[in-house]
Amino acid sequence: MNETTSMYDHVGGMDFFVSLVDHFYEGVEADDSLRPMYPEDLEPGKAALAYFLAQYWGGPTTYSEAKGHPRLRMRHVSFRITQTERDAWLRHMTAAVDRATVAGAPLDLAARTQMVDYFTMAANHLINAE
Ligand code: HEM
Repeated sequence: MNETTSMYDHVGGMDFFVSLVDHFYEGVEADDSLRPMYPEDLEPGKAALAYFLAQYWGGPTTYSEAKGHPRLRMRHVSFRITQTERDAWLRHMTAAVDRATVAGAPLDLAARTQMVDYFTMAANHLINAE
């Protein structure tokens, strides 16, 4: 990756984020503490997360065209997120990053670190209860 290539392009575009989110949701579905927070139909949330992440990492702005400003803290206020939910969320997302592939190979370490650092920071920011 270099200064002129976005992460979105580096990982090969939208397919990466769709697959990342699929892996992540497999973890959510099997998690007794997180699954009850999510609605019965997981598909709209999956699509929203994939488009959000693609946009965040320099891809198309489909998410904001459909939903407006991300305002993630506001969009999470109705969920009780303590350190426990944050830890579970981040564990599933880190596992998803580690399963993700680009052209059949694992994500390179620099990109992996950048993603996990971002997810850690964002998840910390969304804690809204003790
Ligand atoms: C800290 C733990 C977190 C928990 C427990 C959590 C939980 C949730 C839940 C329950 C939903 C609703 C899903 C649905 O309606 O189908 C949601 C939506 C979403 N979450 Fe999280 N989340 C967490 C962290 C994050 C982080 C770190 C990000 C971004 C990096 C994120 C991005 C999103 C997005 C983009 C949506 C969709 C919002 C929309 O509908 O536009 N979440 N989250």
